[in-house]
Amino acid sequence: MPSSLLPTHVAIIMDGNGRWAQARGLERSHGHRAGAKNVHTIVSACARLGISYLTLYAFSTENWNRPKAEIGVLFSLLTDFLGRELAELERQNIRLATIGAIEDLPFAQRQALAHAIAKTKHNTAMTLTLALNYGGRSELVRAVRAIVDAGIPSASINEDVLAAHLDTAGYPDPDCVIRTSGEMRLSNYLLFQSAYSELIFSPVFWPDFGEAELKAALDEYAHRKRRFGKIEEPAG
Ligand code: IPE
Ligand code: IPE
Ligand code: MG
Repeated sequence: MPSSLLPTHVAIIMDGNGRWAQARGLERSHGHRAGAKNVHTIVSACARLGISYLTLYAFSTENWNRPKAEIGVLFSLLTDFLGRELAELERQNIRLATIGAIEDLPFAQRQALAHAIAKTKHNTAMTLTLALNYGGRSELVRAVRAIVDAGIPSASINEDVLAAHLDTAGYPDPDCVIRTSGEMRLSNYLLFQSAYSELIFSPVFWPDFGEAELKAALDEYAHRKRRFGKIEEPAG
């Protein structure tokens, strides 16, 4: 694939763990475990393909409305993942980062994240960002507060200033947002940043969204015509 057709920043809404489990007569927690395993597959595949930024929606601000036990499972899978994958991230030269209100996560998760982020901060092959306690609306509110707190005069506020106060400051906007499980909505993901992202929907539940499905999604992206409001460039 020519590099211009390969997205620089891929954002994924990893959805459908619960339905994956349900379809097998299993508890939702089994779906989350299978989903966490699949993160390894997709992270490795993206790094190998030369994606520079991979941003995964792991826990939304609205996911606090789930049963406590399910939230507990998700958080314990996060620390398991970090423990298991840190060496692998190091080996693949992947930098770990987060977006979202991390300060409101439980202590054990914050500690494990801080450790993994510090260990991988000089890695350069790919930035893997986990969106945790993330919501696009909450992020915008926090950005506005930071701008006000910094005393930036209203006349100086423009789109770049706002972008620089988002959790994704310094990131390129996602070229594509992929959502698994057949749902066709953003669910509060990267609302500002996805203004011109190509939206790609796969019917496959996240635990089954493997390398072949990823490649199909990237192929779909490569065939999209991005115009950014302009008229079509004449051929040649
Ligand atoms: C995605 O799978 C994981 C999270 C949202 C944390 P779901 O748990 O939303 O699975 P479904 O959508 O209920 O099948
Ligand atoms: C979006 O999935 C959030 C994550 C994948 C972390 P949800 O399953 O929470 O979204 P809705 O509720 O179907 O919109
Ligand atoms: Mg869901």
